[in-house]
Amino acid sequence: MNGNVRALAASFDLEKLTPEFYINPYPTYRALRENEPIKRLPNGAYFLTRYDDLVTAYKNTRAFSSDKRKEFSPKYGTSRLYEHHTTSLVFNDPPIHTRVRRLIMGALSPRAIAEMEGDLIQLVDKLLDSIAAKRDFELIGDYAAAIPVEVIGNLLDVPHDEREPLRDWSLAILGALEPVIDEVAFARGNKAVQDFLTYLETLVARRRAKPGNPDRDVLTRLIQGDADGERLTVKELLHNCIFLLNAGHETTTNLIGNGLVALSKHPAEKARLIGHPEMIKTAVEEMLRYESSNQLGNRMTVEHVGLGGLTLPPGTSITLCIGAANRDPAQFPDPERFDIGRTPNRHLAFATGAHQCAGMALARLEGAIAISHFLARFPNYSLNGDPVRGGRVRFRGFLSVPCMTNA
Ligand code: HEM
Repeated sequence: MNGNVRALAASFDLEKLTPEFYINPYPTYRALRENEPIKRLPNGAYFLTRYDDLVTAYKNTRAFSSDKRKEFSPKYGTSRLYEHHTTSLVFNDPPIHTRVRRLIMGALSPRAIAEMEGDLIQLVDKLLDSIAAKRDFELIGDYAAAIPVEVIGNLLDVPHDEREPLRDWSLAILGALEPVIDEVAFARGNKAVQDFLTYLETLVARRRAKPGNPDRDVLTRLIQGDADGERLTVKELLHNCIFLLNAGHETTTNLIGNGLVALSKHPAEKARLIGHPEMIKTAVEEMLRYESSNQLGNRMTVEHVGLGGLTLPPGTSITLCIGAANRDPAQFPDPERFDIGRTPNRHLAFATGAHQCAGMALARLEGAIAISHFLARFPNYSLNGDPVRGGRVRFRGFLSVPCMTNA
């Protein structure tokens, strides 16, 4: 048994994953954490699976850089994908990151987010009405994916009849971030960035001509900049709007989808939450920990760094495995157990440190409202066939989940 586990860790290659891994990566993550927590991959990069090592890397932005210019240049050339990813705040270091983040955090203020709750409840209840009329439904398309696209659309005040292409653009751009991509995924990603830019140029021009209320409309706020006169350049504005739209789509869809599937597979926890709806906050945190929708992060060392007895030279590419760290027994007692009341639960689903998710308050609100309203309406829902996985390692979720309301 131990030999098998060691062999699983020894043979792990992020560029050659097996179908079993996509279905359930956690035995592999455990084998790595226990045997080779700082795993050197065949391509020379390192794969980190221990909670404490991830925290060290996330907190030390000086040694562990997020700047992806070196890494993305061979992968994307001088394409639009390269321009997009290297302009997004998530793939930059201070001082560029600090400046852009301050402006974005200012726009995603608690007030702007609180303002969204009423519309969000209305949207969720409307979707639940359509599901009630059907009885057999598909959890992702009919519900989980329909929520974030509208929420982010509202955030930037994109007119309703112009929202349809947003989800496909977002999937194509994020899909091109997978560790290995073929020519089709590359071409799709590039076209999506171009189409998105063309669309946003028009939207921004319209908003400049007719500004919205900066307390509610994040786009108006980003165009206007902050009270000190600090503003994003046009290129920063457009690419970071694309990033905001992307960052909030697939991740939140997967939180809702993964959460409702996890509950259906853990009937006692489902009954507990139905009996104690006030537990929704800790339940959402556990869903984020147990099946983190964003499983991998990346950094590059820019100086010699000591980690777990090893010294990594500058220029070492590092993958931070959030999915593995969130099941590290050194941090979470009985980590394979899904416990909706788990406290404390300092998971890394939103990372930590300077790049910690700027949209986490919004994601938590969406998750809590989507899941609690769904359960209140369809407490007896059940799966009605096999869920289909998204087939991605970075973003973990389902493409489709056939369900019945049993109402
Ligand atoms: C369940 C949903 C979500 C998850 C799991 C998630 C996860 C993450 C993670 C892990 C990071 C850090 C990436 C890194 O530095 O390696 C991040 C960054 C970010 N996220 Fe989220 N996110 C979610 C939803 C959202 C939403 C709804 C928005 C916006 C409306 C958003 C906006 C951002 C932004 C702007 C950053 C970059 C922050 C920075 O670099 O300073 N996210 N997110």
